[in-house]
Amino acid sequence: INTLLICGGGGSEHEVSLRTADFIEEQLAESEDIDLMRVEMDASGCLTDKDGRVYHIFYDGKIRDEAGSAWDVDYVIPAIHGYPGETGDLQSQLEMFGIPYFGSAPEASKICFNKIKTKMWLSALGIDNTPYLFLHSLEAEELDKAHAALEAWEAVFIKASNQGSSVGCFKVTRREDLHGTIEEAFTLSPYVLIEKALNARELEVAVYTFGEELIATLPGEVRAPSDTFYTYKEKYATGSRAETFIEAEGLNKEQQAWIRDVSIRTFKALKLKDLSRIDFFLTDEGELYLNEVNTFPGMTPKSMFPKMMENHGHNFTEYLTGLIRSSQS
Ligand code: ADP
Ligand code: DAL
Ligand code: MG
Repeated sequence: INTLLICGGGGSEHEVSLRTADFIEEQLAESEDIDLMRVEMDASGCLTDKDGRVYHIFYDGKIRDEAGSAWDVDYVIPAIHGYPGETGDLQSQLEMFGIPYFGSAPEASKICFNKIKTKMWLSALGIDNTPYLFLHSLEAEELDKAHAALEAWEAVFIKASNQGSSVGCFKVTRREDLHGTIEEAFTLSPYVLIEKALNARELEVAVYTFGEELIATLPGEVRAPSDTFYTYKEKYATGSRAETFIEAEGLNKEQQAWIRDVSIRTFKALKLKDLSRIDFFLTDEGELYLNEVNTFPGMTPKSMFPKMMENHGHNFTEYLTGLIRSSQS
């Protein structure tokens, strides 16, 4: 089965995507019936393999190098965090060309990659999520809303609406920092989200289909150092002080049941496909909130998705090869 692994992409998570692709490549290395070809996409959409050969896709379901040699594509793994993978744009093309692929379809991807759209959906579904408001511009009325929110909540998170890996995500406690931070977030996205800053534990659940079954694993936990939050640096840098736990300790039965129920409900209602990592906050006061839905979670050495899946008893290689094989039947 000719499987095209596309990584990189034009967004801020390009480097993270390469690490996710390393993991996926390793997982498929021994497979006899899956012939994997890896290409990296640059910011202009150009695809290159490890030898620097440039490729064009797809129109007829084939990928071609510049000398004109063609390769049929049976399946695509869009291992791109953010634009144009997790945003659904690449998947729209794959739909058009009728090529099956790993992960969610365009619409679900678009909803989940936009933090504001996700929250609108969650609120409409009655799923508790962090108190928020959103801004469309830097006009005075909009900034007044932001100031009122900071006053009411004492600390806020300002987030670019369509970024991941904590890019464009800032904590603000001082009135004088508000305007500049919002301005910075607007350089990264057309809309900006403001959330109440919580004192909370961060829980993550791997939610995926395995055969006919929809699985939500036990929640894992990430613990950022107390002087910061789970920033890009704490997620990926060597020397990160963040700790990860495959199973979060001390959750009671009701909390576990709520998280599981909401994870499954969200996956189904937002029509996700194959995989996701759904993240939650458990506040010091015991409130549970859904934080965000990742349709293509990181699979770097520190990332939780594959580990939580393995902990649940599912081998990632078997899982992915199973999906690839069944896409061809
Ligand atoms: P990303 O998609 O970039 O991962 P998140 O919404 O998950 O964006 O935010 C990144 C990190 O910022 C979280 O993992 C958490 O550490 C911190 N954070 C985000 N929102 C809040 C909040 N409302 N209260 C407390 N911490 C938050
Ligand atoms: N966006 C990163 C890769 C994650 O959530 O895992
Ligand atoms: Mg996150």
